[in-house]
Amino acid sequence: AKSPSACIGVFDSGVGGLTVLNQLYQQLPNESIIYFGDTARVPYGTRSPAEILQFGREIISWMLQQQAKMVIMACNTSSAIVLDIVQAEFPMPIVGTIAPGAIAATKLGRRIGVIATPATAASNAYKRAILAVDPSVEVWQVGCPEFVPLIEQNRIYDPYTTEVAKGYLEPLLERNIDTLVYGCTHYPHLAPILRSLLPPTVQLLDPAFAVVETAGDWLKFLGLANPQPSLPTRFCVSGCPQDFAQSARQWLNCIPSVEKVCLTP
Ligand code: SIN
Repeated sequence: AKSPSACIGVFDSGVGGLTVLNQLYQQLPNESIIYFGDTARVPYGTRSPAEILQFGREIISWMLQQQAKMVIMACNTSSAIVLDIVQAEFPMPIVGTIAPGAIAATKLGRRIGVIATPATAASNAYKRAILAVDPSVEVWQVGCPEFVPLIEQNRIYDPYTTEVAKGYLEPLLERNIDTLVYGCTHYPHLAPILRSLLPPTVQLLDPAFAVVETAGDWLKFLGLANPQPSLPTRFCVSGCPQDFAQSARQWLNCIPSVEKVCLTP
């Protein structure tokens, strides 16, 4: 059995999961975290389900070697495609983003738009999860292939990003949505741009709050919540540590020290 002082493993394809990490700092400040960004293989959202499954398995196996007591898939693409499979394969609890996000969305809106990676949108995972909670709401999803590469390249305030965003939002605005869900953990990094393109009546939902709330409920239920103060977060990547540290600094308000790790022995 794992001890409450063991770490929580958090992973994403890159800097997107930092939006979940910041929620962990707010809601579960006692928890020690290993963050893994698969920056050598980002983006996930345009890859095949078989590749996304292989990456998920490799990362969670590595988290197991790090003695993680829980894994949070802070990546919607992995959550949409592989969560059920890896939950059945690994011994520790694995929390995904889709179900908590779907429940939060139905509490907020009736005409719900979801922006996501092409893989997440094609999986229909959000639509299914939202309609399973409340079949009376309406849901439209848009795949946004350019967003993750633009965010990873730090091009958030590039006018090109605004043009791209306008194109993705147009079909949702035509449907008169009242709520827009960030169906990818990278997208809250675009909040200032997206907010400026949406009517004030459209509410923006970041599932990160609900994801971490769910993780906290599981920890309590399993007797795994850490009563001790946390250790500093360990940041690990598969790509270039300096690049990740540079990108991450604006969302962490510090320059993290980052290790490069090799997932397969
Ligand atoms: C990506 O790498 O395409 C983003 C992963 C996600 O859905 O959060």
